[in-house]
Amino acid sequence: MNIEQRVEEILSQMTLQEKIGQLNQVKAPLKADEEVFEQIRQGKIGSFIMATTAHAGNDDTVLTENLLINKMQRIAVEESRLGIPIIYGRDVIHGHRTVYPIPLAAAASFNPELVEKCYRNIAREAAADGVNWTFSPMLDLCRDPRWGRIIEGPGEDPYVGAVMAEACVKGFQGENISDKDSLVACAKHYIGYGASEGGRDYHRTEISDYNLYNYYLPAFRAAVNAGVGTVMSSFNDISGQPVTSGKKYLTDILRGKLGFDGFVVSDWDAVSQLKRQGVAETDADCAELAINAGLDMNMTDRVYINNLESLVESGRVSEETINTAVKRVLKIKLQKGLFQNPYCDAREIDRTVHLKDARTLAAESMVLLKNDGVLPLSKKSRVALIGPFVRERRALLGSWTLDGKAEETANFAEAMKSVIGANMLLSDDNIAVLDNSIARAVKADVVVLALGESEKVTGEAYSVSDISLPKNQVELIHRYKVLGKKVVGVFFCGRPMAMEGVAEYLDAVLYAWHSGSETANAACDILFGDVVPNGKTAVTFPKRTGHIPMYYNVTSSGRCVNCYYGENPQNCYVDSLPTPAFPFGFGLSYTKFEYGEIKADTDEILLDDLIDGKSFKITVNVKNTGDFDGKETVQLYIRDKIATVMRPLRELKGFEKRKINKNETECFTFELGYDKLGFYTENGEYTVEKGEFEIYVGENCLTKNKITVRLT
Ligand code: BGC
Repeated sequence: MNIEQRVEEILSQMTLQEKIGQLNQVKAPLKADEEVFEQIRQGKIGSFIMATTAHAGNDDTVLTENLLINKMQRIAVEESRLGIPIIYGRDVIHGHRTVYPIPLAAAASFNPELVEKCYRNIAREAAADGVNWTFSPMLDLCRDPRWGRIIEGPGEDPYVGAVMAEACVKGFQGENISDKDSLVACAKHYIGYGASEGGRDYHRTEISDYNLYNYYLPAFRAAVNAGVGTVMSSFNDISGQPVTSGKKYLTDILRGKLGFDGFVVSDWDAVSQLKRQGVAETDADCAELAINAGLDMNMTDRVYINNLESLVESGRVSEETINTAVKRVLKIKLQKGLFQNPYCDAREIDRTVHLKDARTLAAESMVLLKNDGVLPLSKKSRVALIGPFVRERRALLGSWTLDGKAEETANFAEAMKSVIGANMLLSDDNIAVLDNSIARAVKADVVVLALGESEKVTGEAYSVSDISLPKNQVELIHRYKVLGKKVVGVFFCGRPMAMEGVAEYLDAVLYAWHSGSETANAACDILFGDVVPNGKTAVTFPKRTGHIPMYYNVTSSGRCVNCYYGENPQNCYVDSLPTPAFPFGFGLSYTKFEYGEIKADTDEILLDDLIDGKSFKITVNVKNTGDFDGKETVQLYIRDKIATVMRPLRELKGFEKRKINKNETECFTFELGYDKLGFYTENGEYTVEKGEFEIYVGENCLTKNKITVRLT
């Protein structure tokens, strides 16, 4: 019997109440609770979420104990009438016990193979603790670093978002979702949440259909194509329509256009929040709107379990609608293999390899933003290590780290000591006991300042109105600069921070992010030259908060090309130049790469040939002319010069990261076909238009290295 037939068979035996039970997700208890056990017995709980608060990412939320997980599962399997297993979900976002870089940092690695490998490790660890389903990857495109949740997603670019979506889904779900080591993934938050007005969490969004299809949907499309099992709907409304009750989004687009066939879960209490959003008066109205829109499972607020039965009886919701939702849930449970293997056997995991991979990914995610020749440091140099993040552990793990342990995380001082021993002149001081630190700095060859932001100003419900570095840290930089020493700033942050008045005073800037368990070790790998830096930022660094939004894939305007690309920036603001502090795709190395001329295997191609599946090739030689072997991420951008709608000045359409040894040249080849050259109309139809395309290949989005190919 195949899965579809099994689903039908189970469904045919279910009462309406049991069906509705499958759509009910509740908070998992932390200790034995007879009332909950009875609900399981009666088939009233389809899923447990192992989180205790409404924004678990910034609250300590312990994992339900294995014994209890199995106990409740046994009640479901052995004592409920139909024996349907429960699916256990948890926010395993960028790590479990081993924590990897926040997703915004991981995107800067431009290394999807490594990301996939790390997410496989994450799945292995979480599955061993009884998790079946993770509420990740978070795929919200975001152009506003004030938004605390920017840390959770892949940044500002739909192409990077799509590549990372595929990598994460494949990593979590593995070759086979039913493997014990696999987790069901959940693409969230569908859709548009990253556009929250003003970066204020949970706020409204205004997104045209054209922008939705071209910017916000591609990562979700990629997740669906990679076989993601579930999708979480988002809290926001789009132009007045809450997504939670938006049939257009949950059914017409997600299922109709993207072809998703798993199940949709709401966000936490989001169904009942339709009342506050002003489209429903009662809980029953909420349930009716959400289920009829295509929202299958209700997270935590119990609005479905309390109202759907009477809504079916009164004809406001059809039993067919309930059946459709239940079938989707049962299908994923069957695919996950929960009917054959419902229990967790609590395996001990050897994390040695996981930690090694975490260190590699952390180092590949870090971005060297500035280096006036001071880095790499010699292991013999005397380093004064100063600043508020010298001994910090928890922040390095980042927000949405439910199971990583601060006490198992090396701090910067420990990591540096293991490399240079007594040459590290440590000072715990910051501004308060400055004299002492200055005395140490005077003796040192170089000052390394450990700077940044707490994880508690990032993540859900923790946005900021100002992305500047705290004033006392800026002061610290200025104080050490005047000593005449070389000063290196290492930034442990969750978002791009405003660098105006900061980077100018530093001789080198290493953006280390909140890169997980191995943040400090990886930062030292780079500082002392064991790793040649190779991360490139997947989000623009604005110079100051007032320049937000600032993103690379902008269109031109009638009067100036766009200040992002440096043309007529003085027409934008009279009080500052809104060019990026560091553009999308930017990141320095210790070595130098020289890009050769771009070559195309044709300068003209018929659109009809592209439609028939032909493509053309772009090649570029890149030479390592510096003193180190190193990795480079070669980036390909296009610009559709004249189209029926204004197209962006640059759109990333390909990248490849590869190691190039010093004095060697590598040839990079990119294929451009129909799927890369078009865009979506406001109706969601994909189209490619004839005309001239500029093709850029270079080290970041500002590259001037270009060629033109004509579609006829
Ligand atoms: C967040 C989701 C998360 C869920 C469960 C919500 O508040 O928006 O991202 O998966 O809680 O913890």
